[in-house]
Amino acid sequence: CFIGLDIGTSSAKAVAVDEHGRVLARASADYALLTPQPGWTEQHPEDWWAATCTVLGNVLGKLADETDATISAIGLTGQMHGAVFLDTAGDVIRPAILWNDQRTSVACDQIETAVGQTRLREIAGNPALTGFQAPKIVWLRDNEPQNYARLAHVLLPKDYIRYRLSNTLATDASDAAGTLLLDLATRDWSAEILSALDIPRAWLPDVYESPAICASVSADGAAATSLIEATPIVAGAGDNAAAAVGGGIVDGQTALVSVGTSGVVFAHSDTATPDASGELHCFCHAVPGAYHLMGVSLASGGSLAWFAQKFAQEEAGVAERLGVNLHGLLADEAATVAPGADDLFFLPYLAGERTPHMDATARGAWIGLTLSHDKRHMIRAILEGVAFSLRDSLTRIEAQGVVPQRLMLGGGGAHSSVWRAIIAAVLNKPVAVQDDQEGPAYGATLLAAVGAGVYDDVHSAVAAMVELPTQFEQPDADLVAVYRPRYETFTRLYPALRAAF
Ligand code: XUL
Repeated sequence: CFIGLDIGTSSAKAVAVDEHGRVLARASADYALLTPQPGWTEQHPEDWWAATCTVLGNVLGKLADETDATISAIGLTGQMHGAVFLDTAGDVIRPAILWNDQRTSVACDQIETAVGQTRLREIAGNPALTGFQAPKIVWLRDNEPQNYARLAHVLLPKDYIRYRLSNTLATDASDAAGTLLLDLATRDWSAEILSALDIPRAWLPDVYESPAICASVSADGAAATSLIEATPIVAGAGDNAAAAVGGGIVDGQTALVSVGTSGVVFAHSDTATPDASGELHCFCHAVPGAYHLMGVSLASGGSLAWFAQKFAQEEAGVAERLGVNLHGLLADEAATVAPGADDLFFLPYLAGERTPHMDATARGAWIGLTLSHDKRHMIRAILEGVAFSLRDSLTRIEAQGVVPQRLMLGGGGAHSSVWRAIIAAVLNKPVAVQDDQEGPAYGATLLAAVGAGVYDDVHSAVAAMVELPTQFEQPDADLVAVYRPRYETFTRLYPALRAAF
């Protein structure tokens, strides 16, 4: 069987599956998110490692009852963009700075100037964004020179866990593309960007395609986790690319729309088609040689979660008594008011926004409140505003010539039938719900299965291991008609309000 290990933002998750994609065991262990200053997010890599040892121990314990529980290979995945700084001894210098950290805007400007805005987009496929890894290195140089002086290696989160498991420094093209230091065309580090930023190549790990075996469990790794020494480890993928593989998004037909804390619209592309405006991410896919376009909204499910936490104590009590999901209950309540929420709009920019505004200072807002609006309208406006922001991403993906026929929905929001119908209508595409209980870790098992030689390539692994939905829900024509003009109005709200943020 194969193990997929996901170093997420809130927990580490491990899943073991057989070659038919059947889940044999799963485990997860939470860790803390540190916010030492507003807009800063950090984690202790040691916490990831402790959680990794827990979940692997747990999964291996459960597998002991299986007849054929030999682990043929391990696939790693995790939160993208984070920076783990190591010294020459391989020790962690300071807490890791994460993908949702906003401290690096000055460093982003410096990078755009040093590399040149156009060259950066041509080579790395993206503009400098606060979340990416390269600005974190520049920030360290300018703000913590004593730490910078000790720097010998910079790793992405999952690659630090690989280092602990195998003593090997390696990464994969999909995750490496999220550093801003990768040349998308050659799928290797860009000498031009590294030299412009004065970052030595020796600080960075070698880059492999996602299903390639690039390491194996060391004696120390085996002792800490109960894995068997020399078990192969494939390069793996960033969490979005891995989730896409697990959802069968390995061609341009179907796009993945994930409504988790953040919202993601992910589309496969056979060629690198960076968006010249920089509003959309273009990264390598976990399918060797392929790419993906991705729009990210920072507070999708996060907007509803915020509302639930701050304003829905009463409903929380009801949900608990009834034993139902609070977010689902709120969405059902919102369904009792008409589509369009009586002309109320919500901008879901509670955490700033990436696609399409790329503006860390963007803010959330309800627009159009009247005396007749109540809580239900406010919730309905949140569901609709999140859908409009996802449409912003899809519109830009389609402008790059990638036009998906249907959407696979994942994340917590996908499980609300009300929200699903709104998303289908606003994006005007048939939708199905991805069975994403295992998330990116599941996709990592497919990469491991290819690395182990059980399947020739990622497409064959998907065909054999992923159960794709056969039924897609069609968008409701009446809803489509309501939302079309409302989306046009939505697109005018942020530009009109920008100066107020
Ligand atoms: C993608 C991104 C997030 C993280 C979260 O660009 O920043 O989706 O990968 O895990």
